[in-house]
Amino acid sequence: MSKPLVVALLYNLKQNAPRRADEPWDAWNELDSEKTVANLERALRAGGHEVIGMEGDVTLPQKLERYKVDIAFNICEGHYVVSREAQVPAILDALRVPYTGSGVMALTLALDKPMCKRVLSFYGLPTPRFQTFVTGDERLDPALKFPLFVKPSREGSGIGINAKSVCHNARELREQVRWCIGAYRQPALVEEYIEGREFTLGMLGNLPHHIAPRADGKPIEPIAAIRVAKPKRVKTGTPETLRVFPPLEVDLSPCPKDQAGLYTSVIKSQMYDVPKYPCPAPIPKRLWAKLEQLAVRAFAALECYDFARVDFRWRADGEPTILEINPLAGLQEGISDIVMAGEADGVSFTTLVNGILDAALQRYGMI
Ligand SMILES: Nc1ncnc2c1ncn2[C@@H]1O[C@H](COP(=O)(O)OP(=O)(O)OP(=O)(O)O)[C@@H](O)[C@H]1O
Ligand SMILES: [Mg+2]
Repeated sequence: MSKPLVVALLYNLKQNAPRRADEPWDAWNELDSEKTVANLERALRAGGHEVIGMEGDVTLPQKLERYKVDIAFNICEGHYVVSREAQVPAILDALRVPYTGSGVMALTLALDKPMCKRVLSFYGLPTPRFQTFVTGDERLDPALKFPLFVKPSREGSGIGINAKSVCHNARELREQVRWCIGAYRQPALVEEYIEGREFTLGMLGNLPHHIAPRADGKPIEPIAAIRVAKPKRVKTGTPETLRVFPPLEVDLSPCPKDQAGLYTSVIKSQMYDVPKYPCPAPIPKRLWAKLEQLAVRAFAALECYDFARVDFRWRADGEPTILEINPLAGLQEGISDIVMAGEADGVSFTTLVNGILDAALQRYGMI
């Protein structure tokens, strides 16, 4: 165990969301419950640290001044626009307060799914073909073949995803795209619908090449370009290595038919115990190895730090494809996918949370 530290646990509680009258029911599903915060606080205390919890908002500089904080444990989703997940990290960077998890760039890139897909494509990583709709009136790219899938460009937790997300013709597509843009006030992402089993891979730690700004004020070194040919599945999970948890399958077959076999916001928020989550997923070794390699390469492509989760569907042609990467993967005890995958691999919730903290401390040269 590392020496006791003062850890600022930064979050955005659901009850502090800036609600508006005409918003969709799931608009704030990404934000934190008091239970999530309490469980994280307990885990960090069990790691021997002093924990000060606070809402991550624009008053953060004043609030942090009151305490001698060593490091922040950040789970802030933010409230507005594409920078929302990066706002607290940007404040912390400016204040030179170290923090857990990815930085401004990875968080912004990953939140904007189309931009993230462009980066993944640059590295040759498989992701469904797509088009972005800003007004809803754009001409559909003829290269895209139905069925097509519509989702908000900048959400998580299955927000804006329902049975109507799968569109079989131009009329359904226009309707869903316009609803998506209007309800969530952001561009809609239209991509090929991938029929197939669904998997997610959680990761803990860092790629050894990553060199981040140091807490001791030494000059910032460039982050080396990373090519991971054969990522190793490291058993120890020591901070300087990236530990890849076994693939967790999201088996949606027990879910109600009206969820259309999708991992929707209804399932994620109201019936998370209905799907089956076998971990390790019962899959051929070759697929396991491929998923692992793609997950690590996505982590590297976005320059993620400390932990992340990559979601996949297994296409009919036998190749897995990346749906998205979550640098700020949910950390609800016993519920979130990365937490379940860790547990299946012998990493308790407390160990996972303190592993994330240790990975950040190592990255900043603090241990
Ligand atoms: N192109 C696609 N083809 C088929 N299903 C899809 C596609 N994109 C998304 N889905 C379904 O919708 C779910 C949510 O999509 P996605 O992971 O992109 O959204 P999210 O809201 O960011 O999720 P998270 O909760 O992981 O942050 C997927 O788990 C999958 O079931
Ligand atoms: Mg997802």
